[in-house]
Amino acid sequence: MFYYFDYEGCFESAVATLKRERRYRVFADLERKAGQFPYALWNGPSGSRDVVVWCSNDYLCMGQHPKVIEAMCAAAHNMGAGAGGTRNISGTNRAVVKLEAELADLHGKEAALVFTSGYVSNHTGIATIARLLPDCLILSDANNHNSMIEGVRASGCTRQIWRHNDLQHLEELLSRAAPGRPKLIVFESVYSMDGDIAPLEAICDLAERYSAMTYLDEVHAVGMYGPRGAGMAERDGVMARIDIMEGTLAKAYGTLGGYIAGTSAVVDAVRSHAPGFIFTTALPPAVAAAATAAIAHLKTSGMERAGQRAAVAGTKAALRKAGLPVMATETHIVPVMVGDPDLCKRASDLLLERHGIYIQPINYPTVPRGTERLRITPTPAHDTRLIAQLANAMLAVWQELDLPLGNEAGPTSSGHKPSRPPASPSHAVGREVARRKLSKQNDPQFLWRLAC
Ligand SMILES: Cc1ncc(COP(=O)(O)O)c(C=O)c1O
Repeated sequence: MFYYFDYEGCFESAVATLKRERRYRVFADLERKAGQFPYALWNGPSGSRDVVVWCSNDYLCMGQHPKVIEAMCAAAHNMGAGAGGTRNISGTNRAVVKLEAELADLHGKEAALVFTSGYVSNHTGIATIARLLPDCLILSDANNHNSMIEGVRASGCTRQIWRHNDLQHLEELLSRAAPGRPKLIVFESVYSMDGDIAPLEAICDLAERYSAMTYLDEVHAVGMYGPRGAGMAERDGVMARIDIMEGTLAKAYGTLGGYIAGTSAVVDAVRSHAPGFIFTTALPPAVAAAATAAIAHLKTSGMERAGQRAAVAGTKAALRKAGLPVMATETHIVPVMVGDPDLCKRASDLLLERHGIYIQPINYPTVPRGTERLRITPTPAHDTRLIAQLANAMLAVWQELDLPLGNEAGPTSSGHKPSRPPASPSHAVGREVARRKLSKQNDPQFLWRLAC
């Protein structure tokens, strides 16, 4: 008997579904130019040309800072390219040890542990910490990043999801748990898609009242907030009250890797039990040395943070003045609502092809359906000339695609209220877009433009 299974067809249909739902991702082939950020070379279908990048998570341009590049080159020359193994075998090297000391000092903790990415630190860190606590109850914010969600799942522990930034809901769940039961609250400080901030102090108050541990992801805050760049917990004066800080070296620190910082006991336990730490090759020494240089620099230099703040304020003001639907955020993240996956992709394509501006569209599942957006991250290198260019280009694209103007959209979920997507202003933008699309269904020019 001959059995046949269509393996290829299975994968093709998985991709076809994404294409049908307009969520198929196309990556732009870009070459960043060291020393010339935010310019990059775009290798597009009709050749190569310079573009301006407006969506990099190298938030402070540290990936191109001379001190960081120098540290990376020196370490590679001295210690070679790779780590040589897992930390248990031969991967612990001087550069990684120094990096962990720098991170522990940054967060005022006894110890720190480095992983190969922020994703891995959350995944294996949360799973291991929760598993080591008997019958642990995990309380996870509804808007947590996928790496945290997967870490919570991998723990196998009971989990309860509290409505995004909703303190009342968090307290309700905490108060229902047996008083002696170990509880782990996992949350972020800056939520990267809406750019809103968690009420850190109030969460710490609740954690202390109900004797829960706190695990805080500061991936989108480290380097940028607080007097030494240790993040929002430092800015808000609650760093000592957070049990486990988690961060990345790949965004404001411009390199690669992730970490947790906490007491020696918790860090040693994770080091000794976490599969995502034990069974994978360590960070190369050059990457560790570059990250250490970036952290050390940002501990004392406020110049990058000030430059970023100015660029963010200037960008928000220019886009609002142009009437674009900028979501109100207190942070460096500037989301501009589109509310439709097709149009979001079209807007991104037009910006790149016509205006030489690169902003990747953000679609489901990264954000809820109907809240598709362009996520802009101004850096110290985006000056007033580039900001004016961006505002003009976006306005032209908005007009060409007949996208709604003049809306000030708030975050999809914040203000410590339950997130109820249909009532939020950003969904209102989505509804308006859908209404306009429907009313144009018979307009051949509109259909042609969409199809182009
Ligand atoms: C909140 C959050 N945590 C963790 C990560 C993963 O960090 P990394 O890019 O270092 O893997 C991301 C990535 O964007 C993130 O947004």
